[in-house]
Amino acid sequence: MAPLGIGIVGTGFAAAAHVDALRRLPEARLVAVAASSDAKAERFAARTGAERGYGDWRALLEDDAVEVVHDCTPNHLHAPLNAAALDAGKHLLSEKPLGVDSGETAALASQAAAAGLVAGVCFNYRHYPLVRQLKGMLGAGGEGRAHAVRGAYLQDWLLEETDWNWRLEPERAGASRAVGDIGSHWLDLVEHVTGDRVVAVCAELGRLHERRVRPAETTETFAHATGEGDPVEIRTEDFAHVLLRFRSGCRGLLAISQVTAGRKNRLLLEVDTPRAAFAWDQEEPNTLWIGRRDGANAALPRDPALLRDDAAPLAHYPGGHQEGWPDALRNLVAEFYAAVVAHREWRPYEPSFATFADAHRTMRLVEAVVESDRRSGWVEVAAER
Ligand SMILES: NC(=O)c1ccc[n+]([C@@H]2O[C@H](COP(=O)([O-])OP(=O)(O)OC[C@H]3O[C@@H](n4cnc5c(N)ncnc54)[C@H](O)[C@@H]3O)[C@@H](O)[C@H]2O)c1
Repeated sequence: MAPLGIGIVGTGFAAAAHVDALRRLPEARLVAVAASSDAKAERFAARTGAERGYGDWRALLEDDAVEVVHDCTPNHLHAPLNAAALDAGKHLLSEKPLGVDSGETAALASQAAAAGLVAGVCFNYRHYPLVRQLKGMLGAGGEGRAHAVRGAYLQDWLLEETDWNWRLEPERAGASRAVGDIGSHWLDLVEHVTGDRVVAVCAELGRLHERRVRPAETTETFAHATGEGDPVEIRTEDFAHVLLRFRSGCRGLLAISQVTAGRKNRLLLEVDTPRAAFAWDQEEPNTLWIGRRDGANAALPRDPALLRDDAAPLAHYPGGHQEGWPDALRNLVAEFYAAVVAHREWRPYEPSFATFADAHRTMRLVEAVVESDRRSGWVEVAAER
């Protein structure tokens, strides 16, 4: 089979991670990258080995050799770029969130459903071997239905008032920051793993800094700014606490923060069932904790020899040879491209990755959280056909 021609838009943290994942995929050929200027695009092309660089993403979409587009731009560009990519007949892997609000994500979800192309969204935490294991164990039913879930997504890279990133500007990131940026990952994950649906939320949002210092020069994601610049009023949340009700009757509790010292990327998911409790922590992703009342607790290692048949293929090395964040993104990219190949060969495929419809649903949950804080009470999330 001829390799698939790929175009990546954006040259920052996410784009570099996508390139790394694609390098481990035999059917991938990085045809082009696009950036906000010609010079940036050429530099990124030289760094990544892309065949060409474009200073405008529209030119990348006109390139017939590009069959698949990765959208790794800031959030406000997702809607126009994703809509144009689908119009141009490209398969599309978009970074999350799919848009800046549910108006944008609804339109994109309908467009993707009608397009007959493969369209996915990077909710990459679905693609860890032990997450797949947990989903499989819960789905098998032997542990009983989940009655409570707890968790958190905590980071510290925006702790100081001098920390700056485009995510602090609602015009570029959307009306929610901590919840939209990282809470969305947890919300997608909990529904994916349990198969349940959140039907109501009660949330309170918080802010550590009412003002922050915006540097004159742009700052890369996760980088430290110099501390010199203009004070700017902050309108989005640094942290959030959320109660959740699920369709099955399950209850949930979630803490989200970008200002928790020492927590770098701590996505924690705990699931309680009548016969066992489970805990998985992204900062220690090679172990799934399983709690039992009438027997010894277990720490299941990420060892393909010990995993279920559906989870083992996501583990690429034997137990003890640790894998983590880049490996899960590689799994997402590989499963997305397996769907593209199936599409090319007219074979059906079942997406393991988040679809545009899933990402629209997650955006509706994020908006319900913001609305709940505004109203100081529970907000129902209406079912959508
Ligand atoms: N799935 C994940 O775990 C994950 C992790 C990080 C970021 N993200 C998502 O990836 C996206 C990018 O975030 P990031 O952290 O890489 O940000 P970043 O600031 O590091 O990179 C954004 C890039 O987009 C480029 N850009 C800006 N305007 C452009 C334009 N008009 N044309 C082409 N390129 C343009 C910037 O120059 C920059 O290189 C966001 O939507 C974010 O939510 C997802």
